[in-house]
Amino acid sequence: MAGVVNQATSEIAYQIFHNRQAAPAERFERMIQKSKELSQAAERMLEFTPPLHPDRTEDYVELAVTLRHYASGLRESAVEGNLDQAVLWFWHVKNTCMTCHEVYRFGEQEPLRKPLSVTPRSND
Ligand code: HEC
Repeated sequence: MAGVVNQATSEIAYQIFHNRQAAPAERFERMIQKSKELSQAAERMLEFTPPLHPDRTEDYVELAVTLRHYASGLRESAVEGNLDQAVLWFWHVKNTCMTCHEVYRFGEQEPLRKPLSVTPRSND
């Protein structure tokens, strides 16, 4: 699963940022295909219990669902042929990879960044 996720993410980055000599339709077609794979991988993450924090599944599930949501945003941008929008969704995707990894792959106690909820500031 991680192999699929990694490969799909690299391929999307390549199509967004590098493959400029190719026809736009071809780049968007690859992005559509790879964001579909990313959504499917996010779906499978929901079935997976992260060994480092088997107790923290609620946050984990939220992050996997968030990844699926961002992957479908990416896909829609590619369907519409909107590269600027695809870039924005791509950064959301990357942010979600990192947020989940901090806690569930590398074992931090709390996520350093939260992709969706905003933490209220207590001292202002
Ligand atoms: C919902 C949480 C979550 C999200 C989101 C997530 N991952 Fe992971 N990822 C994990 C966990 C947990 C592991 C460690 C798995 C284990 O220990 O078996 C992992 C491991 C990996 C690994 C290492 C696999 C290995 O064989 O050691 C790669 C590569 C990876 N993720 C890539 C990504 C990429 C790229 C993204 C974003 C597109 C992403 N992941 C999003 C939870 C997540």
